[in-house]
Amino acid sequence: MKHERQVELLKRLKGIDPHTPWPLAEHAHRNPAGAYVDPARFEDEKRVLFRRRPQMLGLSCELAQPGAQMTANLGGVPALIVRQTDGSLRGFVNACRHRGAPVSSPDGAARPRITCPYHGWVYDLDGSLAARPYAEDAFADAPKADCALLPVAVAEGYGLIFAQAEGGEGLTAASALAGAESEIADYGLGGYVLVEAREQVVDFNWKLVLDTFCESYHIRALHKNSIAPTYLSEISISDAFGPHPRMIGLLKTVLDELDKPSEADWRFLPHSTTQYIFMPSGLMTYQRDHIEFWRVEPLAVGKTRVRTGIYAPEGPMSEKTLGYWRKNLDILLKVTGEEDFALMAKIHQNLSSGALPELIYGRNEPCLIHLHKAIDAALAAG
Ligand code: FES
Ligand SMILES: [Fe+2]
Repeated sequence: MKHERQVELLKRLKGIDPHTPWPLAEHAHRNPAGAYVDPARFEDEKRVLFRRRPQMLGLSCELAQPGAQMTANLGGVPALIVRQTDGSLRGFVNACRHRGAPVSSPDGAARPRITCPYHGWVYDLDGSLAARPYAEDAFADAPKADCALLPVAVAEGYGLIFAQAEGGEGLTAASALAGAESEIADYGLGGYVLVEAREQVVDFNWKLVLDTFCESYHIRALHKNSIAPTYLSEISISDAFGPHPRMIGLLKTVLDELDKPSEADWRFLPHSTTQYIFMPSGLMTYQRDHIEFWRVEPLAVGKTRVRTGIYAPEGPMSEKTLGYWRKNLDILLKVTGEEDFALMAKIHQNLSSGALPELIYGRNEPCLIHLHKAIDAALAAG
């Protein structure tokens, strides 16, 4: 983040009382319980939000080598993203054209070709069918040219990877970022490497994963024994790029920067956790010395796959350095898992009970309001 932008963010905090909620949305917002638990609405979300809109899948560095692969579930469409020998990316439906088996390699490792595990059909990295070992004659009336892997739209830019299962012909990273491009470019994501990613399946609606990160109001109560001593609860910085909110959590030390006489010495990033919620499926956090990326894949109305990756600046990684980053990931997953997500599962149960008509998002939760209005607007338009 450029220094001018850091100074601009710090200036907003001038004269702000850290114990009074700020900033405030114009109105509180009510969201019916059905938005989280209605199966018909969930099917609409899968189709409109997860198939027909760009999904942010992760950082480009995850697919560094030709033949490197990444799989994703795009609203029920199984996708395989593959790095080509010319450095570009291609996306495919992760299903063999013979009898439908997934063709991704089980460990995601780079391979010179894509080989189906069922009967051994071999595809080139560009998805064209290269060979049907021991059975070319048996398929003579199904020409190879008709049996390439089916395409899925992908785009790459600013160090990020996007895919779209339906209607993605004009997909670009810039259009998917909806105005966040220059800020994301400043992070220089091309200079990061993936340290580790872990997956979990949680028993609550996908929106509750994102809700977790959309306000700092809960820090004082829910995180009183973990992060509350260091973070501010009542104030945060809330903005949005198109449908994507940016919620910046603030360390208590941030206000000390304003006491430094020269703006040239002001630093914002060391005192903040900057979270970009890329509606609907991605959440990227810049946290002092590393990047975290969360990918959200809805499996059912009350079941969501969550993948969390930690990325560090490129450079020599000793066992000690790797241990440091892994410990960061351990702590992140422990706090979110034991404190936030444990509660989200209970909230989902309460919403499912039918006893609670709606949730009320307060004026002190502007990013949460923005996200849900953006979701509703996208559903209405789709
Ligand atoms: S399903 Fe892939 S080779 Fe048969
Ligand atoms: Fe939290």
